[in-house]
Amino acid sequence: MCGIFGYVTNKEENLGPILIEAAKRLTYRGYDSVGAATINGSKIDLRKDVGKVEGVSVKYNFTEMRGSRGITQLRWATFGEPSQINAQPHIDSDGDLVGAHNGNVVNNVELRQQFIAEGMTVRSQNDGETCVHSVERYLNRGYEFIDAIRLAYGDLQGDYAFVIGRVNEDTLYAFKKGSGMVVGIGDGFTCVSSDLPSILPLTRKIVRPQDGEIVTLWSDRVEVRSVKDGKLIDRKAETVTESMDAVQKGGYPHFMLKEIHEQPQVARELLHLLDGSPEVESLVEKMKKARHLYFVACGTSYHAALIGSVYFAQIAGRPAIPVLAPQFIAQYAPAVGYEDVGVFVSQSGETKDVLNALEAAESRGMASYGLANVIGSTLTKATSFCLPLCCGYEISVPATKTFTNQVITFLYLAYRMAGRDPSTGSGRSTRELETIPKLMEATMDAIGSQVEAIAKDINKWNDMYCLGYGATYPIALEGALKLKEITYAHCEGMLSTEFKHGPLSAVSKGYPIVFVAGPNDVPLIISGVNEVKVRGARAIVIAEDDPRLRANADDVIALPKSDANISPLLGVLPLQMLSYHMSVMRGFDPDFPRNLSKTLTVD
Ligand code: G6P
Repeated sequence: MCGIFGYVTNKEENLGPILIEAAKRLTYRGYDSVGAATINGSKIDLRKDVGKVEGVSVKYNFTEMRGSRGITQLRWATFGEPSQINAQPHIDSDGDLVGAHNGNVVNNVELRQQFIAEGMTVRSQNDGETCVHSVERYLNRGYEFIDAIRLAYGDLQGDYAFVIGRVNEDTLYAFKKGSGMVVGIGDGFTCVSSDLPSILPLTRKIVRPQDGEIVTLWSDRVEVRSVKDGKLIDRKAETVTESMDAVQKGGYPHFMLKEIHEQPQVARELLHLLDGSPEVESLVEKMKKARHLYFVACGTSYHAALIGSVYFAQIAGRPAIPVLAPQFIAQYAPAVGYEDVGVFVSQSGETKDVLNALEAAESRGMASYGLANVIGSTLTKATSFCLPLCCGYEISVPATKTFTNQVITFLYLAYRMAGRDPSTGSGRSTRELETIPKLMEATMDAIGSQVEAIAKDINKWNDMYCLGYGATYPIALEGALKLKEITYAHCEGMLSTEFKHGPLSAVSKGYPIVFVAGPNDVPLIISGVNEVKVRGARAIVIAEDDPRLRANADDVIALPKSDANISPLLGVLPLQMLSYHMSVMRGFDPDFPRNLSKTLTVD
């Protein structure tokens, strides 16, 4: 996830060290490139490159950078590969504006084409540069700076925060849409950042701008105006009292819990990005023409691949073969060819098992595409193109938000495979998927204390099952994996109908079995529930509320009503929370479970 930081003071100063320190405080968000710019009278000093803060700031001697205003940015690539030219900040055509953003401008491609047609100098692929040119466009048309910014806000679609300054002035301007942004007021300076941790060591007096507001920062004050009518908004400053550690975790005790709660927001950002992505259409066309379609992955990403293949069959009538990456090499690679398409799915983009499978596929001429969170990772470079998962940095070892965004991407692709696109004007539209973020929020609100109470009840067990069917089968596997990863208990995920073929013998009094049921599978799940209940099990069902389930199960964790394709996705949230609570109750650190690594770069 990118991060921005802007600083305004009242005299020419050595701003380099301040920018370096602020950039270091943003690094926990994850990044691949670093940049800094200072504005000194009529001059802009801009230095940037791919790499870590320590390396880039030394190589380009950020320490010597002087000015009365400064901007630093850490980039997490989404639009345009990690490169010096795509690194931020960016300048406008004639170099008197400089700005940087975090987040995603989803109409980046269209806007860049417009700017080129309007004669502006567009240097990179990056959407941060697009933000700068969208202000430049209105300055060229004779608008005042603040009005140019207001108009630019209207043109920039997506979720982002942006800071910009101009030579020969004494202010920076900042605004946000969808993403976070905080303004700090210090003694003789003001600053703005994507988040609190980079501001707190400088000042605890802050202002929180909202979407649709523009902040002007002078060295001694800030002003908040409405984008709509340019009128002043009376926004009082507040004083932050929390510790730095609590702030980095967003006030949550663990990164895992923070990342679980981030899921609605990253889902929203992903859906915007997919709507604006020209690569989606291209991938859909390739997949439609493929002889065989393979979804290749490991661990949690494999569970997303598995649900993806259920969606492709059920929604688009298109079979796709989900396969664990090492098994792909043994079972399919010898038989694939150039007529086949593989989608390689990986949060990190560095999992060696996945890269080995990719190599095997490419040696046979198979067309290979990626789905990854870390843009600039080996997978994103080795595939023809890679769709970004748009989750920002996932710190906790157990994957949560990257899983749900993988599932949403597959669901979106399945809709598009089925021709259910707004542009076709027929059938169901991907617009239906826009309900997902709100449904996720409603799920989190609904399950809270109930899941914690169940976790307490079943926590003495070191062996349990998690069962599902159809699209909830991969969700059951994922729930079982989460439990194994962070509670160190054994939990087996299984197709619910398979349970009677053996594992039923393990059931004894109170034995916990979690069922995840889709809205169309209730009768089948009820028979599974009864099978285990008569043998003493505690049957916990995650499903939309249904009197038939309430009459049969011991516990029903009720999901909000939704489409039958969306409901399974919601079902993973209580399972993430159940694992989280059980892990914490056992005294473990869910963020960093023993023996596990977030990125497995070995065979
Ligand atoms: C490791 C991690 C898992 C992850 C798997 C695949 O085993 O501990 O959480 O699901 O790798 O990782 P990837 O980055 O390829 O999605």
